[in-house]
Amino acid sequence: MKIISDIQDLRDQLRGQNRAVFVPTMGNLHEGHLSLMRLARQHGDPVIASIFVNRLQFGPNEDFDKYPRTFEADVEKLEKEGVYVLFAPTEKDLYPEPQEYRVEPPQNLGKILEGEFRPGFFQGVCTVVLKLFSCVQPKVAVFGKKDYQQLMVIRQMCRQLALPVDIVPAETVRADDGLALSSRNGYLSTEERQEAVQLIQTLKEIQEKVLQGKLTSADVLKIEQDACAKLSTRGWVPDYISVRKRNDLLSASDADLSSNQPLVVLAAAKLGKTRLIDNLEI
Ligand code: PAF
Repeated sequence: MKIISDIQDLRDQLRGQNRAVFVPTMGNLHEGHLSLMRLARQHGDPVIASIFVNRLQFGPNEDFDKYPRTFEADVEKLEKEGVYVLFAPTEKDLYPEPQEYRVEPPQNLGKILEGEFRPGFFQGVCTVVLKLFSCVQPKVAVFGKKDYQQLMVIRQMCRQLALPVDIVPAETVRADDGLALSSRNGYLSTEERQEAVQLIQTLKEIQEKVLQGKLTSADVLKIEQDACAKLSTRGWVPDYISVRKRNDLLSASDADLSSNQPLVVLAAAKLGKTRLIDNLEI
């Protein structure tokens, strides 16, 4: 595997590759990331991965400085997965001058859910993803459904900017007890790790209730509020637990609910100092 940090060197290395599949990451790779690499291999060749902890998508009080950086272990894992090139730019390589041109996602998608609680997050994500796409010029890129809203934001960005990149979604990889794998799970204490499974349990309970059917939007709101209250009594601080339509992530009206629109329930909640997100399609 070639490890390249300079944009021009990357372009030289990839010249003539027109079936490249790209998996952008922020490193600290776990089985979830490796499953993205394996899925990537089914969608083209060669597989290009990137590791870049993108300052632009972290808020001033978020964990940019303490975000886990495990470069050597990551390299070993990517080598085993047969990745052809790892693009690992420094901040100077990717942002040699202040990044003043930014991609601002539309309010109706970019400022809800994660966007409401992490102002600037999706602008930072879109800006870096567009720039990484411009460096790698992949035919296909793979994004995990664990970051459900991110996947939708990027899909919409590609569509609206006519970027010639197909976005392939990858299923969430979970630990045996159901907790979605995430680099941030490493922040959890032993007791918090045991408690963390309650997030997906709560989503499963909501999924079951909604699937039983015949709910109004007021019923759904009550279910969401009860779920937040239940997690709060266990010591969590929920940002949101919300049932949304899969196609636009807006709330489901009574008509949407009675016509069985495809739904997804999304949640973000803090356990101690760690903020976890998860989602479940309904
Ligand atoms: O999902 C992530 O790891 C990041 O948001 C991404 C897509 C690599 C952009 O920095």
